[in-house]
Amino acid sequence: MTRSLREAGEAAGMPIGAAVAAKALKADAGYRNLLNREFSLLTCENAMKMGPIHPAPGRYDFRDADLIADFARSHGHRMRGHTLVWHNQCPKWVDHGKLPAKQLAKALDAHIRTVVARYRDVVSCWDVVNEAIGDDAKPRPTVWSRTLGAGYLGRAFKTAHEADPKAVLFYNDYNIEEVNPKSTATIRMVEGMLRSGIPVHGIGIQGHLMADRPPDWKKVKANFRRIGELGLVMQITELDFRIKGRPTAQSLRRQADATRRLADLCLESGHCTGFVWWGATDKYSWVPGFFRGYGHALPFDRSFRPKPAARVLTA
Ligand code: XIL
Repeated sequence: MTRSLREAGEAAGMPIGAAVAAKALKADAGYRNLLNREFSLLTCENAMKMGPIHPAPGRYDFRDADLIADFARSHGHRMRGHTLVWHNQCPKWVDHGKLPAKQLAKALDAHIRTVVARYRDVVSCWDVVNEAIGDDAKPRPTVWSRTLGAGYLGRAFKTAHEADPKAVLFYNDYNIEEVNPKSTATIRMVEGMLRSGIPVHGIGIQGHLMADRPPDWKKVKANFRRIGELGLVMQITELDFRIKGRPTAQSLRRQADATRRLADLCLESGHCTGFVWWGATDKYSWVPGFFRGYGHALPFDRSFRPKPAARVLTA
């Protein structure tokens, strides 16, 4: 490869990033080298989620998040913070759903203030709320919405903004690449927040996709356009293009073509400020564990060699 993804992304004004697994970062020098060479926008795959970082009321465990943030600081990466409010990977003390509204709201405020303030020198954007809309395109019932009502959304964004007025604040979700009922509901929700003066700046599009069944690019293009029309930025936040079974020359080609197509639409949109893979190497991808029978979803293989999907971004 003539240049790295890192160089290509910076040159295009669209940093290319990867989610980082703390355990691998500790153990694997090859992985550390790959992250440094190829990416400039890191995110924590798990370490900044509420369960891992805030395991008991008022007790934080910053070890893994600090490790990743220190790595990012010392190698000149920026970070995306992921994520302040989510219904998964919540600590037990929140998840049991028995905290009264007043207490839960106070805990949420304290959580956001503490975590955002700690990393504000290196985290330039935050996924403030993750996956608040269900697959039925309706607000997802979660411990947050049930206990606090729909107002928890605005509250979270306001608190994050107070904790770091410079941070770009995102709403993040999956299956919102194309124009479809869920992306429409997302845009309506964000529009509503903007009208109420809530500091929301961007939409994070996760992008857990299939190489063999890429999205309808026309619908993706139209969706990107309407995000821009609202004056918002967007980022691809958790990209993987999973392949069924063993990879073949053809499936790797398809993965590369889909990657290139998505990156082009992002670049053409003029308001895509990041392109982040949900991992760097197939060696540590969450895909095989979550999507049965699928894998090989990331730009570098298990031996850290660039796949066509990496080469196509650096050409
Ligand atoms: C996943 C991680 O990759 C796994 O290691 C963990 O076990 C579960 O969460 N949407 C998100 C991410 O916003 O936080 C999820 O990450 C993947 C789906």
